[in-house]
Amino acid sequence: MFDVFEYTKPKRDVAVIGVGTTKFGELWDKGLKELVVEAGIKAVEDAGISGKQLQLLIGGNMSGGMFSGQEHIGALLADYLGLNNIPAIRTEAACASSSVALRIGYLAVASGLYDFVAIGGAEKMTDVYGSQATTTLAGAMDQETEAYFGTTFPGVYALIAKRHMHEYGTTREQLAMVAVKNHENALHNPIAHFQRKIGIDDVLKSPLVADPLRLLDCSPITDGASALILGPADTAKKHTDTPVYIKASAQASDTLSLIGRRNICTLDATVQAARRAYEQAGIQAKDIDFAEVHDCFTINEIIAYEDLGFCKKGEGGKLIEEGVTQLGGKIPVNPSGGLKAKGHPVGATGVAQIVEIVKQLGGEAGKRQVSGAEIGLAHNVGGSGATVCIHILGREK
Ligand code: COA
Repeated sequence: MFDVFEYTKPKRDVAVIGVGTTKFGELWDKGLKELVVEAGIKAVEDAGISGKQLQLLIGGNMSGGMFSGQEHIGALLADYLGLNNIPAIRTEAACASSSVALRIGYLAVASGLYDFVAIGGAEKMTDVYGSQATTTLAGAMDQETEAYFGTTFPGVYALIAKRHMHEYGTTREQLAMVAVKNHENALHNPIAHFQRKIGIDDVLKSPLVADPLRLLDCSPITDGASALILGPADTAKKHTDTPVYIKASAQASDTLSLIGRRNICTLDATVQAARRAYEQAGIQAKDIDFAEVHDCFTINEIIAYEDLGFCKKGEGGKLIEEGVTQLGGKIPVNPSGGLKAKGHPVGATGVAQIVEIVKQLGGEAGKRQVSGAEIGLAHNVGGSGATVCIHILGREK
């Protein structure tokens, strides 16, 4: 079923030499521009380079037009970051917008065409009413077969959850365990949207959003921005004592609508992108020390475990129940708190996952530190799986 994909080695290795992020949450006193500038300046300072050394700027943003009335985001970023003379591009792939930005930036440095590239992601979601946010997000679905009939993202993932529960016996409690774990991890993340401990009962008694998903199964509507600086791997040690290298950058696509899917309990684009990423990095799923995965709804973290190869198909529920993915478990997942509790400013999420991985690999994650972390994986989904990006980062090239 899958296409034949021949992996070609990049001309040179690429490192992340600086990262920055804003606080995530309801940031009513800050606009899109302020968020971008704050994250961008932090990343440049962290890299210890001058803005003048940057040669290319790529920013992920899902819907500046609908959320903030602002389009032409690429030029806007360059303008407010004081980088008017360099090429500036906006990428859009729904919730995977900034991972696509990273992937293009990675290709630009790996090809040898550019040395220093700034990658950003931003979304200002809370300036509109909740219903408008839901409609805007639904723009990432197939309009004719899904959104037109009133389907929302909680609705789509609820269908997936129902089917997964039916096929594999995944329980309501197992879904709740994902939220409980990610809220627990976020207690130790100062940028997280929610720093609030919850229990399984809290999830089960929270308001129903789309059966079987409840409020505490959902990622929130969040404001935030994140940024990173890419550079050639062979100069990375000039910028940091703990360089982090991109071992793989992979992307795959699938149908926008669930109707076209082979099996709605699997995101084929995750399976495909993971296969490419593991091949490029020369590793297997068992070699991953920790992961930041796309838990936009609790069911999606369970499906990600399976599609990334952390367990067999249908055993994701068991994996969370056995504590394998909690901090201190065999493969901690979402030590940052994930989209569920760290928050999900859609255009910023992909790069924010990388920021967490860089901090973990650098031993800078404080109380949420994954001990002995050498290799981390970021899994970022656009829509219900029509775009999936996977990046693998490591302390060694
Ligand atoms: N998790 C935990 N708490 C949440 C929450 C979430 N996802 N969303 C809202 N809350 C809290 C708020 O902080 C608020 O708490 P407070 O009363 O103590 O201040 C309370 O719940 C009500 O918040 P409100 O903003 O009125 O919630 P809402 O009902 O308008 O929105 C959802 C809740 C779940 C519908 C909304 O967060 C949502 O649509 N999430 C999904 C986003 C999405 O689809 N993203 C794309 C994924 S593909």
